[in-house]
Amino acid sequence: ARTVRRDADGVMTVGGVDVKTLAERFGTPAYFIDEADFRARARAWRTAFGPAADVFYAGKAFLSRAVVRWLYEEGLNLDVCSGGELTTALLAGMPADRIAFHGNNKSTEEITKAVESGVGRIVLDSFQEIARVAHIASSLGKRQRVLIRITVGVEAHTHEFIATAHEDQKFGIPLADGQAAEAVRRTLRLDGLELIGIHSHIGSQIFDMSGFEVAAHRVVGLLRDLRDEHGVELPEIDLGGGLGIAYTSDDDPREPHEIAKALTEIVTRECEAARLSTPRISVEPGRAIVGPTAFTLYEVGTIKPLERLRTYVSVDGGMSDNIRTALYDAEYSVALASRASDAEPMLVRVVGKHCESGDIVVRDAFLPADLAPGDLLAVPATGAYCRSMASNYNHALRPPVVAVSEGEARVIVRRETEEDLLRLDVG
Ligand code: LLP
Repeated sequence: ARTVRRDADGVMTVGGVDVKTLAERFGTPAYFIDEADFRARARAWRTAFGPAADVFYAGKAFLSRAVVRWLYEEGLNLDVCSGGELTTALLAGMPADRIAFHGNNKSTEEITKAVESGVGRIVLDSFQEIARVAHIASSLGKRQRVLIRITVGVEAHTHEFIATAHEDQKFGIPLADGQAAEAVRRTLRLDGLELIGIHSHIGSQIFDMSGFEVAAHRVVGLLRDLRDEHGVELPEIDLGGGLGIAYTSDDDPREPHEIAKALTEIVTRECEAARLSTPRISVEPGRAIVGPTAFTLYEVGTIKPLERLRTYVSVDGGMSDNIRTALYDAEYSVALASRASDAEPMLVRVVGKHCESGDIVVRDAFLPADLAPGDLLAVPATGAYCRSMASNYNHALRPPVVAVSEGEARVIVRRETEEDLLRLDVG
């Protein structure tokens, strides 16, 4: 499913509504999410793995109460990584046993809330946390289901800030030097914890399956050692998220059923070689589900041609609604959305309205030379890590998220107001 289409006049539409109507009704900048596309992708992930696996949508990519309801209805589980995400999930009616709680430094309050509300699993990230969760669970008279996140030592081919399984970073317990095995031993001895599996997340925006192959090989190696040493066979492997999406036409993502097939084959093969019964697999896609389903709509404000260089096109948002270009050198595409044009293409840089020159939305793009203030621009594939990482830099008001489906549009996260900002300023 493609999120953005055009009507007969060349105006982009989403979910059966054209962007001029959307801009008039909801203002710009705004994120528009195609609900049917979101549901279809969520469903495709769930059905791709079938009943032998669990799909946990990674809420950090984008979370709101409506999204939680869609996930619930489509039969997915939810991965949260903060008290705020947990509260949103529970308030929106996600059953606690379908929630996984992540994070490398969960607070005592967060752990207590997670255990009290009965989350299905907590993913343990350090030796201290093993002790902390065990203590909290025991004092609440509970036995908490947990996984241990290990660092398998894989160099994922992605931006350094979003690669997470090489050794020199903050997540997980290293497989190296027997540390992961020691973490398992300790966890097995603690009454408050029920160890159900091992977790590995190698990074994000990954296309090459070989990283998952190495990760699965190493996780299964650990499971085999544990069986040999302690006679325990852990029932589950969680391979995390991280599957890439197409931001520009150069990216070539795989379909969920291909990924499911590849991951299942890798785990099955490794387990057969180790003579282990195949564990249950779980995965945590965030970007791959929500990323392609939304786009950001901006209005062009000023246009500044710089001789021999390029034309700077300033829009009414910027790094406060999409930090990814500045932070990761992420690439996006952009299209004139409010009309058709057969003018010559010109080289542009689409920039925001913030007070720094790194405030770039799309570094290099071509837009028609007759572009004018008031035109609407659409930047596709902004569903993941844009609204969820949005900021109030320069006291920007964070844009709304509008769900569009079958010709109807409704706000699911409203636009911030100056009152919202001032409410926090109590000085
Ligand atoms: N599971 C765990 C344990 C994770 O840490 C993450 C992402 C995911 C699943 C979901 O990964 P996904 O399928 O969405 O790639 N802000 C960055 C991405 C940070 C990802 C952090 N963890 C970006 O905008 O690219």
